[in-house]
Order: sequence, then structure tokens, then C-alpha cells
Amino acid sequence: MAPMASGIIDRYAAYLPITEQTPRITLGEGSTPLVRSSRIGPSLGLESLYFKYEGLNPSGSFKDRGMVVATAKAIEAGARVLLCASTGNTSASASAYAAHCGLRAVVMVPAGGVAAGKLAQALAYGAQIVVVKGSFDEAFALVRRAASEPGIALVNSVNPYRIDGQKTAAFEVAEALGQMPSELFIPVGNAGNITAYWRGFCELQRRAGGSLPVLHGAQAAGAAPIVRGKAVPRPRTVASAIRIGNPASWMNAVAARDESGGTIEAVTDREIMAAHRRLSREEGLLVEPASAASVALLVKRAQQSKVHPDKPIVCVLTGNGLKDPKAMTMGLKLPAAVEPSPRALRRALDRLT
Ligand code: F0G
Repeated sequence: MAPMASGIIDRYAAYLPITEQTPRITLGEGSTPLVRSSRIGPSLGLESLYFKYEGLNPSGSFKDRGMVVATAKAIEAGARVLLCASTGNTSASASAYAAHCGLRAVVMVPAGGVAAGKLAQALAYGAQIVVVKGSFDEAFALVRRAASEPGIALVNSVNPYRIDGQKTAAFEVAEALGQMPSELFIPVGNAGNITAYWRGFCELQRRAGGSLPVLHGAQAAGAAPIVRGKAVPRPRTVASAIRIGNPASWMNAVAARDESGGTIEAVTDREIMAAHRRLSREEGLLVEPASAASVALLVKRAQQSKVHPDKPIVCVLTGNGLKDPKAMTMGLKLPAAVEPSPRALRRALDRLT
């Protein structure tokens, strides 16, 4: 018999706020691969560049790590409804875990602000979707107000169990490398994930020693409140997942940056899409635009000779490219159908030379 799916609650119970009463739920989240770069790293003169491929989680993003713990604790507390505002991935993840556990999910998303695949996920998992004529930030302010109602668990990353679950990615990175990375690049939206990685690395260091990595957060230039030092009322970027103007974990992200001696920098949409294209074409890694922001920042810093070339460097690839088919095929076109003849194949082969 094949082994049963095990998830992060089982694997990391000792590091999580798990009690006897916490249900051991899982959709098989975590244990995602750390893939060694085959071409981007060498092209930049980097010996040991790795990608943490979080798009392989059950709902296709890193959110599942935090959602499984938040859902388990919600059940433990007697909640029946998972509530969130989302640019798409949190809603997909909350909807999946709600379905798995027989709970209801209510997700609030900005109209026109969510990639097609993510909306399709929430629909398919049976969530109650509220599409608001407004931004993520406005939706988030609304759900925060409703969070104290009985039976409702707010599962945005202001929920501390989300951060606890997501920190397990830092454990996995260090396990796979056999040491801490030297630098870690990560996209920043609502700023929960950079907070979680930093917490994970710090906990690991307290338990096992080693030197802490330097964290570099990437915001999209049109949605870069932390870089600019002020909220952005109308954030704009192709990377819809991180189209956020007033991050909830702003101060924690700044602390992670400063305590690690790192940076939070802006990358343009052009840089993001160039990195997106390189990940697909040079690495075989399909990601959504927000995930490519981490690689865009790495490329930029490497070109400025600001990256240590022979130490282990990790870029976090937060979400699966299949979620955003429009971004995937930007500027590309499927060729017209042809007759199934040997000539058609011959022509395609000839085009290679
Ligand atoms: N990458 C992806 C694919 C995301 O979906 C998000 C956030 C981030 C990066 C940024 O992570 O918010 O912890 O700084 N998505 C949230 C959502 C906001 O609603 O799905 P963060």
C-alpha cells in the first residue's frame, strides 16, 4: 500500500502550536522540492542557486502550509467558517481546506484583480465568493471587521497560525541544503511570508545554531509601499498576487529585513516578466508573475555584483504558473492547426535549425 499523505502538522508538530485536541488534517502540503538552477544561476556566475518550488503544494501555492494549521486551529476552536480577503491564492487555499474539512469558506476578492485559475479554484471548491468593486486592501479592511463574529475564523496572515505553518518552508530549505542559505529572495505582498521565513530561520538557529541568512524582499514597482515608506492607494502591477498597497505585516517585514541585514526592493513589471520567461524557458519552472519577482530581484542584484557567487542562494517561487494562463502566454500565440501529415512535422523540425 502506498504511504498515506503526510503534511506539515505531522512533520513539524514539535515546532507548531499543536495540542491533543488539534485535528491532524492534511492535503499533503509541504515537502516541496528545492530545485538547483540549471541555467539562470550559471549565466549570472552563481554556483549554488536554488528555487523553492512552492507551486507544487495541493492548491498550488505556499499558502497551504499556513492554511492547514489555521484550519486545524479553527476547527479546534469550534469555528464553522473560514473567512479571508485575497488576491487569489489565499482564497484558493482556504476554499480547498474548508472543502476538505466540511467547513464553509467565504472569500472576498477584488473585481478584476484575481488571476483566472485562482477564481476557478475557489468556485470549484465550493466557496462563497464576494467580488468587491475595490482593492485587496479595502476587502481586507472589511473582513478584519467581521472576524470577531462567533463561528468565524479569519485566515489571512494576521492569523498567527498562518505564519507558524508557513515558517516550515524555512525548515525545509535548511534541511535540503544541509545548512542555512546565505541569501533568500522572496516576493512581498501582504508581507506574511517574509515574516514567516524569518521566524523559521530564527527558530532553527536557536535550536541548531548556524548563521542566519540575509533576506531580500521583492515588491512590484507599482505596488511597493514598504520600499517607498508609504501606503500606495492604487497599487498597479502585472503580478496581481502582490498588488497590495498597505501590507498587514509591514512592520514584521521591516524587522525581518533589518535583523537579517537584507533589503526590500522594487522590481518593474518588465523585470518580473523577463524573470518569468526565463524560469519557464531556461529552468522548466512554471510560476505566476508574483513568484518571478524574487528572481527578478536576484538577477538585478547579481548584475550589480551584490550577490556572493559561491554561497547557497535560494529564490522562493511562491505560486504555480497554471493559475495565471494569461500571464503565461503573454506575447505568445498558438500556431494554426494543420493537416496531420508527415510534412507538417518535417516543417516544424526544419524550423529548429
Ligand atoms: N506570491 C504569491 C503567489 C502570493 O499569492 C502572495 C500573496 C505573495 C507572493 C506574497 O506573500 O502576502 O505573504 O507577502 N498572496 C495573498 C493572497 C495576498 O491573497 O493570496 P505575502
